[in-house]
Amino acid sequence: MTLTGQKPTLKSDKYVFIKTYGCQMNVYDSDRMFELLQPLSYKKTNNPDHADLIILNTCHIREKATEKVFSELGRLKKLKLSALKKNRKVLIGVAGCVAQAEGEEILERARYVDLVFGPQTYHRLPEMVNKALKMDLSLVAGSQIIETEFATEQKFDELSTDSISPTNSFLTIQEGCDKFCSFCVVPYTRGAEISRPAGQVLEEAGKLVKSGLKEITLLGQNVNAYHGVSSDGKEWTLGRLIRELAELDGLERIRYTTSHPKDMDDDLISAHGEVPKLMPYLHLPVQSGSNTILKNMNRKHNITFYRSIIDKLRKAREDIAFSSDFIVGYPGETDADFAETLRLVSDIEFAQAYSFKYSARPGTPASGKVEVGEQIKSDRLESLQQLLNAQQLAFNLKKVGTVQNVLVEKHGRKQGQLVGKTPYMQAAHFCGNEKLIGSIQKVRILDGFSKGVSGDIVNNDKVYDIQKPAKIESKEIYS
Ligand code: 5AD
Ligand code: SF4
Repeated sequence: MTLTGQKPTLKSDKYVFIKTYGCQMNVYDSDRMFELLQPLSYKKTNNPDHADLIILNTCHIREKATEKVFSELGRLKKLKLSALKKNRKVLIGVAGCVAQAEGEEILERARYVDLVFGPQTYHRLPEMVNKALKMDLSLVAGSQIIETEFATEQKFDELSTDSISPTNSFLTIQEGCDKFCSFCVVPYTRGAEISRPAGQVLEEAGKLVKSGLKEITLLGQNVNAYHGVSSDGKEWTLGRLIRELAELDGLERIRYTTSHPKDMDDDLISAHGEVPKLMPYLHLPVQSGSNTILKNMNRKHNITFYRSIIDKLRKAREDIAFSSDFIVGYPGETDADFAETLRLVSDIEFAQAYSFKYSARPGTPASGKVEVGEQIKSDRLESLQQLLNAQQLAFNLKKVGTVQNVLVEKHGRKQGQLVGKTPYMQAAHFCGNEKLIGSIQKVRILDGFSKGVSGDIVNNDKVYDIQKPAKIESKEIYS
């Protein structure tokens, strides 16, 4: 592990290391944990060896999550022991969905753990840490404090609004899920759907924009099921919330993730055509192209419906790019079912996608069903990924010759290189001054790759070695 965080200088400095697994929601939660710990004088370190508090923010969505956590905890036990020998006390915490689902087991099997807390209770982290610090820390045995009950909107009230990135930020507006797809642990680990009040979201977004942020991604396990109460007592849908957010001066880009096809209502779809700040990119998981499998998965939509949503969105915003999630080898999936998935992918042409082999999650309705053979799952995953990768490359190459607005996010790996995002979520690489980080620049796309595009800032005097000039069209498309 590299040390990019600050090194402790004074004995009184306290450092926290958080290792984040899984989804954007966990990344967001880890950022909030850092902020909650600041009043307790904890600073961030990227080196667990220097930390006084180590938190594993875990994910339970796919296979072997629990075992991964236990093997990481085994390493942390050694670290805690060797710190104690040097008279340094280290607290160990397990947060997130594994903590929620297996909290008792963690405390049972790893007695040196101090804190176990689920995604709904991390706003109480300062309280828990203070309580643990009052206990006898000279022992390897942990304080064993556990908080895993499901909370309510109260959690949202107690979170601060600082953003970690200077350019874009996630903003959680909704948590939990009531859909109960038969393969998924989220309804059990994150609890029932709750939406954050609309006024609170607008206020937080306002603060983020004031701090100079140009892009906000609205976050939720089922973000388009949003139904936050506004000050007039009415419930706002996501479409309404987006339209209101778009009024914020200084906010240039709005995104949202993750959506369920069933909750793509007409107002949200038309917002894609009517709100220029809403970016032309949508992650809309479908999971399978077979109606039989979708039914068995309890997805609550069929393929005709999914296609109709895609068509409506393309009518509303012609250039919208789509991403999706797929599961291959769900119990009972036949070759013919899988062929339907390939057919759907071929027809829709995704700009990006995530695909996984089905893995049984304990406690979900699908677990215990007769599984598809491992080799079949691997073969299907490979052919699906081949197709999806080819589509991603084709999508990126299609943008060659166009000029895209790129939100500049950070330095690239190469000297003088910057990286940003096009409206379509493509990573765009180009050369430029680091002062451009945080701004939106027009970049002429000169090449496309499987993972992104590269180009040149428009009006930049520097001439680059254009490898494939034949591909550049004269037409410039501003988006
Ligand atoms: N097996 C495989 N993939 C899963 N996902 C969720 N649960 C499982 C599982 N049991 C995938 C789905 C979901 C994404 C976040 O993770 O595709 O959309
Ligand atoms: Fe899981 Fe389905 Fe809810 Fe998505 S919609 S979080 S896959 S239960």
